Amino acid sequence: MDKREESLRKAVREAAAFAEKVFREDHSGHDVSHTMRVYRTATALAEAEGAEVPVAQLAALLHDVDDRKLSPETSEKKDRAAAFLREQGVDAETAERVLGIIGEVSFRGTDSVTPESIEGKCVQDADRLDAIGAVGIARAFAYGGSRGRAMYDPEIPPENGMDAERYYASESTTLNHFHEKLFLLKDMMNTRTARELAAERDRFMRAYVDEFLKEWNGQA
Ligand code: ADP
Ligand code: NI
Repeated sequence: MDKREESLRKAVREAAAFAEKVFREDHSGHDVSHTMRVYRTATALAEAEGAEVPVAQLAALLHDVDDRKLSPETSEKKDRAAAFLREQGVDAETAERVLGIIGEVSFRGTDSVTPESIEGKCVQDADRLDAIGAVGIARAFAYGGSRGRAMYDPEIPPENGMDAERYYASESTTLNHFHEKLFLLKDMMNTRTARELAAERDRFMRAYVDEFLKEWNGQA
């Protein structure tokens, strides 16, 4: 193992501890378990895709530490992630790549971007996979609850084709979030492995929403 790889591996270990500290207080679906699932999935995808694994791992572990909801004052420049990478002595070029990926991963409605690098594609897929399926359902309701959102309101229809500004401003119900984001994700996956996993999770989530509406409407 060369020196750069050894130092990146150490940074990966430290990044897990750093994320643990940052997310200790969060219960809005951004707890450290989300970060660790994204880390594990991103690692598997990066291995399958022949991407540079530690770069994907660092981006996965740091992808939400400057999240706009969690840390609005650092989200623009990714200050926490940047400072962490500097302190770890990660070389400037690698740090740039990691910060670049973090800037690309988020869902922003019609303003979402496809990451340029294969490492970025893996991290974005991993983050999106964690938003769908059984865990994704739980996260959506946990998030909605933390914001005081209604689970469902038949009077409020979902909005289609929102751009980033509208998506961020939306105060819609959690059931609408399925239509506004979660059901869109399976067709937005970058890698084949993620597309396959997403198809299964999407089926489960659609069956869940059908059942939810049946019960709500007194038909089950
Ligand atoms: P990510 O960590 O994937 O970038 P976000 O920061 O957008 O996701 O949101 C964190 C979690 O909260 C995700 O599971 C997401 O689907 C969910 N979430 C975001 N916005 C809403 C909303 N308006 N209603 C319900 N759940 C939401
Ligand atoms: Ni995330």
